Amino acid sequence: MHRILGIQCGFQVLLLTSIFAEMVNSLRDVYVTVPTAVRRGDTALLICHYDLEGDALYSVKWYKGRQEFYGYTPKEMPTMKIFTIAGIEIIKSLSNESHITLADVQLVSSGRYSCEVTVDAPSFHTFISSADMEVVELPHHRPAIVGTRPKYRIRDSVRANCTSRLSKPAANLTWSINNLPVNPSYVKHHKALKSHEHNLETAVIGIQFVTNRYHFIDGKLKLKCLATIHDIYIQSTEKSLEEEKPKIYTTKTPNVNYMNFHLNYPHDQNPTMYSIDAFGRKNSYETEFYEPESSYTSKASYSSIVELLVNLLTIAALILYL
Ligand SMILES: *[C@@H]1O[C@H](CO)[C@@H](O)[C@H](O)[C@H]1NC(C)=O
Ligand SMILES: *[C@@H]1O[C@H](CO)[C@@H](O)[C@H](O)[C@H]1NC(C)=O
Ligand SMILES: *[C@@H]1O[C@H](CO)[C@@H](O)[C@H](O)[C@H]1NC(C)=O
Repeated sequence: MHRILGIQCGFQVLLLTSIFAEMVNSLRDVYVTVPTAVRRGDTALLICHYDLEGDALYSVKWYKGRQEFYGYTPKEMPTMKIFTIAGIEIIKSLSNESHITLADVQLVSSGRYSCEVTVDAPSFHTFISSADMEVVELPHHRPAIVGTRPKYRIRDSVRANCTSRLSKPAANLTWSINNLPVNPSYVKHHKALKSHEHNLETAVIGIQFVTNRYHFIDGKLKLKCLATIHDIYIQSTEKSLEEEKPKIYTTKTPNVNYMNFHLNYPHDQNPTMYSIDAFGRKNSYETEFYEPESSYTSKASYSSIVELLVNLLTIAALILYL
């Protein structure tokens, strides 16, 4: 009698531990793969990953928000159940216990998708995992840059806006100058404009900066605006702004020398000019000169009296020609 009891107890302990072990070990790693962004009208593949660790599946259910729209129960007939909710159309032939395919997604299909997996008896243990999907309406046009002039002088102020019209959500806009990201202080962020008519948004970003000589490469400044929407849309628009060279004035100051005969070493506020003589020496003969339309003065130098004379002759020839 005692012995039978003992065996019974032992059996129950065994049963309990096995149930416990099952609850802990079965159904591991439930997670979903849901596209973050899908173009309106496209199909979307949603995957529910799970590992039953040898147990039987009772059911897989998919919810959008709290509404169930898909159920898969292998022991029931039919195994697949579909509940109608707005903006969700299941392609049955491309859906099963782990994958579902949504056809022709619409803006209302955006939301949180959850997959709930339940293990068969005796545990009926359930796990759930969720992720968000956003259905995107892409802009019909590239971003547009407005407000620029064709030509700018050094130290002119550039002001422009870039607009990406009517998308959902609003595009992310970024500026670049000569393909390099711009100083954040140049950028003016504006709130996206909502169009109630279409429920779409227009993104606007401004830029404002004062040009310096390093903005122009071969006399051109490439201003580019890039519009992106998650990882499914990328378009850019570029404007080439030309450097307007200062006019040559007939004053005593040898502007032409600065323009044509001296190497310019980049120092932000106070450029220094050098000329190198035939022997590669920096010349010690320095002259003050004035750059047009600027308040600062810089040092310039001449390699030789001969070069100076040649330069002056060139200016004279130029003046006569004009
Ligand atoms: C479920 O469907 C997907 C895609 O249609 C397929 O790759 C996968 O093998 C299917 N899974 C099973 C268990 O049949
Ligand atoms: C840029 O857009 C803002 C806001 O819409 C507007 O106030 C500003 O005048 C625009 N600037 C230019 C240069 O078009
Ligand atoms: C815009 O950029 C932010 C920051 O990188 C990102 O979190 C957001 O998802 C982006 N939005 C779109 C519509 O691409």
